[in-house]
Amino acid sequence: MLSHQIITTKDGSTTIQIPEWNEQYHSKHGAIQEAKHVFLKTGLASLDLDYFRENDIEITVLEAGFGTGLNALLSYFWAKENKVKVNYISLEAFPVAEKEVSKLNYPQQIEGEQADAIFKKLHSAIWDKRTEISSNFKLHKIHQKFDQLSLIDTANIVFYDAFGPRVQPDLWDMKTLELFKTALKDKGVFVTYCAKGSVRRNLESLGFKMKRMPGPPGKREMLRGELI
Ligand SMILES: C[S@@+](CC[C@H](N)C(=O)[O-])C[C@H]1O[C@@H](n2cnc3c(N)ncnc32)[C@H](O)[C@@H]1O
Repeated sequence: MLSHQIITTKDGSTTIQIPEWNEQYHSKHGAIQEAKHVFLKTGLASLDLDYFRENDIEITVLEAGFGTGLNALLSYFWAKENKVKVNYISLEAFPVAEKEVSKLNYPQQIEGEQADAIFKKLHSAIWDKRTEISSNFKLHKIHQKFDQLSLIDTANIVFYDAFGPRVQPDLWDMKTLELFKTALKDKGVFVTYCAKGSVRRNLESLGFKMKRMPGPPGKREMLRGELI
């Protein structure tokens, strides 16, 4: 099993490092900054929020890699602030141990009422079952590998937050990415911190209209795609 170390990134938020891979769960330049930039600002905030609000439709997010639960925690507060409902589905094959979760400082770093209680609720939610975290945020953590994904026409947006192609190239190939495309609804959006040309080309071949977007601090670019 790969060893884990908790490290502090440049914005003061922690992340998990895998020394054998020289890879982290988030950017060393700032875990919270990266997550907010890639998945909230370039992802969720780019959707037509009025459409969801006016029609009282929930936004279904499909995340690849629940990991530390940081993206879910930030999405919870984003949903509350923006007065939209979120149905958050997240796949994870190797859940982070409770002992490690308790060493992460996200609740202290996030200015949000009850961040600690919500973070605990997200982590203690039962796997493979939809749990109501609040009236506008539901969480369904699926204990499954990405290549077993079988959702069809379900999500409005994919948060693709797998480890990088350098260490897990198979998670960025056409076969795996196609499963996430199938899980998306019409006009669905795909966002990832990764900016690699081969990933962009794979997504283009699958029918996404791809755009290179400005990256979070410390990274020039990231990718955003939309089904057309
Ligand atoms: C870059 S981390 C990010 C996780 C998370 N979004 C976060 O903010 O902490 C990637 C996650 O993908 C998970 N993972 C790796 N390979 C996987 C696979 N084949 N199927 C499902 N999950 C996988 C890892 O355990 C890890 O939690």
